[in-house]
Amino acid sequence: MGWEQAWLTYRKQNNRNWEPYFGSIYADGEGKVIKTASKELKRAAREILGREMKDSGQEEHAGIILKLVPDLGTGTEGFHIKERNGQIYVMSEGEPGLLYGSFSCIRRLQMEEEFQGFDKKEIPSNPLRMLNHWDNMDGSIERGYSGNSFFFKDQRILVNERTVEYARLAASVGINGVVINNVNVKGNATRLLDETYGKELKELADLLEAYGIRLFLSLNFAAPMELSGLSGADPLQEDVREWWKMTMARLYQRIPGLGGFLVKADSEGRPGPFTYGRTHADGANMLAEAVQPYGGVIIWRCFVYNCMQDWRDKKTDRARSGYDHFKPLDGAFRDNVVLQIKNGPMDFQVREPVSPLFGAMEHTNEMLEVQLAQEYTGQQRHVCYLIPMIKEVLEFRCGGLGRKRVRDVISGGGKGQRCCGMAAVANTGNDENWTGHDLAAANWYGFGRLSFQMDLSPEEIAKEWIVGTFGTDRKVMDTIKKILFMSWPAYEKYTSPLGIGWMVNPGHHYGPNVDGYEYDRWGTYHRADHLGIGIDRSEKGTGYALQYGEPYASIYGDMKACPDELLLFFHHVPYVHRLKSGKTVIQHIYDSHFEGAQEAKEMAACWESLKGKIPDFIFERVKKRFDHQKEHAEEWRDQINSYFFRKSMIEDEKHRIIY
Ligand code: GCU
Repeated sequence: MGWEQAWLTYRKQNNRNWEPYFGSIYADGEGKVIKTASKELKRAAREILGREMKDSGQEEHAGIILKLVPDLGTGTEGFHIKERNGQIYVMSEGEPGLLYGSFSCIRRLQMEEEFQGFDKKEIPSNPLRMLNHWDNMDGSIERGYSGNSFFFKDQRILVNERTVEYARLAASVGINGVVINNVNVKGNATRLLDETYGKELKELADLLEAYGIRLFLSLNFAAPMELSGLSGADPLQEDVREWWKMTMARLYQRIPGLGGFLVKADSEGRPGPFTYGRTHADGANMLAEAVQPYGGVIIWRCFVYNCMQDWRDKKTDRARSGYDHFKPLDGAFRDNVVLQIKNGPMDFQVREPVSPLFGAMEHTNEMLEVQLAQEYTGQQRHVCYLIPMIKEVLEFRCGGLGRKRVRDVISGGGKGQRCCGMAAVANTGNDENWTGHDLAAANWYGFGRLSFQMDLSPEEIAKEWIVGTFGTDRKVMDTIKKILFMSWPAYEKYTSPLGIGWMVNPGHHYGPNVDGYEYDRWGTYHRADHLGIGIDRSEKGTGYALQYGEPYASIYGDMKACPDELLLFFHHVPYVHRLKSGKTVIQHIYDSHFEGAQEAKEMAACWESLKGKIPDFIFERVKKRFDHQKEHAEEWRDQINSYFFRKSMIEDEKHRIIY
């Protein structure tokens, strides 16, 4: 199967001003990553300008100079680009910075911007900028919506040209770490720790390293039992601890550049320290100690809850579980452990409050996890530009000393931590366009750019991505931008009202089904009856709102103060309750579903207007998805509206037909 170039689609341009720079290149050093940077600049010059850049032996004669400069103040991943007298200096303290600086120059070419007098210093916002692939070794992808894995096939690891193209795309937006296997580690994936896959893993790690990317693996907490027949995996038991030390010593000997491990424990059936009456700090620290000598990092997920729990008791609340489990452990984790926290307390719904764990653990490394794979936001068949949502999360002032924002916490909060940053569940697969829906690539692009530079706005990111993918045509730019910015609000409108979430079919989680979600056996995820809907998470209810620092504990806990879009997340209210907007809850449900479905049609019409403006095969591919989205949005509208009409028996004020 082939592949396309996504936002690295280079188009011929004819700007004479650029010619002096792109004639020759001087690269300072022989390192692998510098070589990559130089290769990428040459490729861009060839494809965009039709020029073969020569290697210049001398700095003074080169058009572009890649230069390592100690004490530049950029760190190893930041860069300084400076145009001077017809030469472009790309400088950094480290090789990755030179690669990012080179991609920044290439972006300028794509955006048709001049270089004369250009002077720009950029330092990445986050130390860890990661993609988490939920790929299985049989080639399937958990929650994958763009084909099969390009990392695994038939229990083997793939290292080929496509892997190189993946690394280029990831590095071009600043990704510096990838976890290649699913967090649910089963079967042969447990063997990624032993010598079975040693050779291929080393090859893959080397390939990624040339793009400044470190390889990470998800690991199985019960590996000592599964691989060596130990009687348990108790993190405080000596033979278990020794097993991990020995296993890591061997693994790091084979792959010294390995970044570390991602761990899902005691959640949705995965093994973990709870079995032995131990804490998550015990579990994480055992692993952290084993990888410490090699500079390894343990990324421990806070998505810990008992999915089989009986939620009928009104004090039992899945939303509480992350905070309840982890907050008491603040300060107990080793320095090379970072807690990876999903953006919301539940599970990647179209609207959730920001997790109260952010900023609540002053003495613990924290990083953010978002999901680009659109499990609950249209599965890459609906368009849903998630960058505005991620940006909102980053800007949320989560509390704590000085009311820090999430972005301050996860980027190290001025404490100089190296173990923190942002991770995204990837939305890629081996489809030719990488992401199934062409417009879903904006999320991959945007996540990388935002993790590198959190000051960027969703608009700037959209603009860059559109130019990189489709070129600089004004109409294409305006239309696609319009679609992208309509998409998340529209999806929220025609699916889940006022923060309630979850009304999906069981298992695959696609399409409307108000009582469908598999762990919601009693309708407790929405608690809708004939009088009202929503979950009381105030002090009188589950008490979840109290997990927030002020002012949020008070705002969310008070029905009158709670923002409309989260009302049903925090409160159980009658259908006739009036929102701040002046509408009743039931009227809001009806109206928003009609509006959302209408907006899906509008987005589809916008796309239709691009016929002839973008390559036909892409136009048709996306049109098909919009055809489906339009219809599916109506199905959502009708199912949700008729469910609540029947339940509440309250007429639509506008007398529309509700099926
Ligand atoms: C969701 C998703 C699972 C995934 C889990 C996780 O529950 O449906 O497929 O394993 O999140 O984040 O671990």
